[in-house]
Amino acid sequence: MTAKSITVSTLTSMKDRGERIASLTCYDASFCRLLEDAGVELLLVGDSLGMVIQGQETTLPVILDQMVYHSACVARSRRSALVVADMPFLSYATPEQALMSAARLMQEGGAQMVKLEGGKPVVETVRLLAGHGVPVCAHLGLLPQSVHRIGGYRYQGRDPASAQTIGDDALALQDAGAGVLVLECVPADLAKAISRTLSIPVIGIGAGCGCDGQVLVLYDMLGLTPGKPPRFSKDFMAGKESIAAAVVAYVEAVKEGSFPAAEHTPF
Ligand code: KIV
Repeated sequence: MTAKSITVSTLTSMKDRGERIASLTCYDASFCRLLEDAGVELLLVGDSLGMVIQGQETTLPVILDQMVYHSACVARSRRSALVVADMPFLSYATPEQALMSAARLMQEGGAQMVKLEGGKPVVETVRLLAGHGVPVCAHLGLLPQSVHRIGGYRYQGRDPASAQTIGDDALALQDAGAGVLVLECVPADLAKAISRTLSIPVIGIGAGCGCDGQVLVLYDMLGLTPGKPPRFSKDFMAGKESIAAAVVAYVEAVKEGSFPAAEHTPF
């Protein structure tokens, strides 16, 4: 670790100080350098790479070997940002399998934290990982790995019962040892309430401006994703002359709280 290394404690202190955390997905060494230079604190090697790099329709076909490969590409050029790697679909179906998958992501992939999707069903897995020294980022709300069960990419937590479940799951995951929580596509009021209740940093995507930080899929915010962009995203490349300028604009907008704005917050 370098003296400037951003750790989970750094992110927690930022939350305590009210300083917003800027995060983007990152899948390779060149973007790792560029994003770090622009001030991005958390680099998420997301399994969204299945869609934006591999051209798959969902994240489900992504396998552990591929996550290890991309995590290593990022980690090799990392100087300070925290590298978080996604555990792909069914690579953490049992707590023991999760330990083996996390070991590969950290030992071969150089990740400093692993992310997994889900609430109650993964609480014991989070406890086991954290107990073995694996920093864990939890992920609630819209769970892309469950897209076929959910029946589409829909906002979650819009009725009182499901909002309560997400809130309860968030607390249970924190208690089990999760160090960061990603909240995807939940109403802004719910995300704000959860961010205030939890002591760990909450990073939102499609969850309004009341979270402790924001994350977007890099290719979405660079306007590269074909078709209609998600309603919660923004093309930061528009009007910019370089990718670096677009990423700097994103980091500034997150830090000052101007992104996400009302038009990026449908619920
Ligand atoms: O895989 C990914 O990029 C993610 C973000 C959408 C949070 O999980």
